[in-house]
Amino acid sequence: MGGQKIIKSVAIIGAGPAGAVTAAAFEAEKYFDHIRVFERRETAGGTWIYDRDPGSVPLHLRPGKLPLDIDPPLDLPDRLPAITAPSQQERFSKTPVYESLMTNVPDIAMSFSDLKFAYGPFAPHYIPRQYVENYFSSHHADDFLVLNTTVEDLSRQPPTATAGRSPPWKLTLRQYDPLRKADVWWEETFDAVVLANGHYSVPYVPRVKGLDEYIQRFPGRVTHSKPYRSPLPYSGKKVLVIGNSASGIDITKELLGSAQLPVYQSRRSKSRWDGDTAPDGIEWKPIIEEYRSDGRIVFADGTYLDDVDHVIYCTGYLPSFPFWNEKANGRPLWDYASQKIVKGYWHTFFQDFENLGIVGLPRALTFRSFEYQAIALARLFSGRASAQLPQVQEQERWEREREARTKRDRKRFHDIPWETGENLKYLGGLFDIAGLGTLTGEGMIPPVLSKELIWAYENLRRYKPPTNDKGGDHSRGGSKASEQKGEDEDGDWAMVGPDSISL
Ligand SMILES: Cc1cc2nc3c(=O)[nH]c(=O)nc-3n(C[C@H](O)[C@H](O)[C@H](O)COP(=O)(O)OP(=O)(O)OC[C@H]3O[C@@H](n4cnc5c(N)ncnc54)[C@H](O)[C@@H]3O)c2cc1C
Ligand SMILES: NC(=O)c1ccc[n+]([C@@H]2O[C@H](COP(=O)([O-])OP(=O)(O)OC[C@H]3O[C@@H](n4cnc5c(N)ncnc54)[C@H](OP(=O)(O)O)[C@@H]3O)[C@@H](O)[C@H]2O)c1
Repeated sequence: MGGQKIIKSVAIIGAGPAGAVTAAAFEAEKYFDHIRVFERRETAGGTWIYDRDPGSVPLHLRPGKLPLDIDPPLDLPDRLPAITAPSQQERFSKTPVYESLMTNVPDIAMSFSDLKFAYGPFAPHYIPRQYVENYFSSHHADDFLVLNTTVEDLSRQPPTATAGRSPPWKLTLRQYDPLRKADVWWEETFDAVVLANGHYSVPYVPRVKGLDEYIQRFPGRVTHSKPYRSPLPYSGKKVLVIGNSASGIDITKELLGSAQLPVYQSRRSKSRWDGDTAPDGIEWKPIIEEYRSDGRIVFADGTYLDDVDHVIYCTGYLPSFPFWNEKANGRPLWDYASQKIVKGYWHTFFQDFENLGIVGLPRALTFRSFEYQAIALARLFSGRASAQLPQVQEQERWEREREARTKRDRKRFHDIPWETGENLKYLGGLFDIAGLGTLTGEGMIPPVLSKELIWAYENLRRYKPPTNDKGGDHSRGGSKASEQKGEDEDGDWAMVGPDSISL
């Protein structure tokens, strides 16, 4: 890799924050002849695009099913280029952003090192969207964007006859043409590909006894946080929220001003923001054991609820790569049993595809960590990396050992905790690969992890920490152990002790 193989053309899949910084890093190398960013939406922005109309997600809820089932590949036309009737298949391309959504990571970590957010430390959802769009333009990477275009297939091609070139990648692309009311299909081939397609599109709903039948018997009653936009449709209704992470906590809290009280919240685990008892207006429930045919919902402790008007699953998302052609590429890309990429290295590289990369996957330092990944990939693909990747055997060992360790500790493979110092090691590894670029200024330089950033990340929280033991304030921001040291004038964010790091 890097140096041995010649890469001149690069396709980036997705124009969210990860795609934006990847495009900028590849442009900055001044080495590649052809860079394209394929984005299925009408603009750059990724998750941060706000869709007032959430579309038809509730119709596609299938408990326990994986994206392989609910977000399958489209049938490709037999011959390309082609023009076909528009596909009606759900692609989950709308975003989960709701009206009141605010960022929950301080702007210094949620921005790239060379451009600030318009304001912070926390901001409404349109600020990151504007930021991502602007980031493309300020890096002269807006030219690379091919919008309204979905990558429907990614297949590795046979080796070329040209010495020093890895087998290229063929992308099959689909663009809806509103004038002809048709899908236009074509193919393009690239020396390398970077996946920046995001991982919060396809909603996950767990399998629960009786839930399939309940969804059929009471149409529209069960939904997911993905299409949630505001508490208005829930006014005066009896609502049960499932999940106790960011979406579950935010939505439960927002419903307090609108829904019938109490709002019920089913928690599988205690969150680090929970006190010993539920906040006023909320009743905690354990996980659901069964949905009965008469509409009764029975919980693991034997208690039950009747006549629930709405059940909102805030149970997260699963990554989906419907464009990955498993047959052509010889193996799957994602292992749903272990929740990890297959044959990956350092959450960014691939052991068996030296001209493929992925940016944006790990839960680390959000946008800022994508910057390190993007620069390391740009440097490797331009052949200017300061350090090469280790031998494949070493990469395999890394994957094997991490999988064993994360399974043993019941952690997720791609979660990189801050508290243990692992983030520093992870970013340091990417920093070492990238190095400084050239003497004459080609290439972005991986940023320092400044004391200011570390302080903000460890101390600024979107919500005030609890001031007493009464169930915390049921918001993200401080555990019982945290200490409130201050807040802004509006009182809508807080400084807390470093013992309450959480994202
Ligand atoms: C409700 C919610 C709130 C969040 N809040 C925060 C927060 O406060 N702070 C924070 O740091 N993070 C937050 N996140 C995480 C958020 O996803 C990241 O901030 C960031 O957007 C991830 O960037 P990304 O570029 O990897 O993915 P995305 O932003 O998801 O962008 C991926 C892009 O790829 C495109 N794409 C996908 N498949 C294809 C295809 N086949 N062809 C063409 N284009 C494709 C998508 O349309 C999308 O535009 C939140 C996530 C959710 C769901
Ligand atoms: N800016 C913001 O304010 C904001 C708002 C919403 C979301 N987000 C971000 O969006 C991303 C997704 O967040 P999310 O809250 O939607 O999803 P998530 O973080 O993946 O959380 C999923 C929740 O569902 C629960 N769950 C999963 N399977 C379950 C099952 N079988 N039974 C019962 N409960 C189950 C989990 O419980 P366990 O904890 O036990 O696994 C967890 O509480 C995160 O990065 C988050 O930070 C940000």
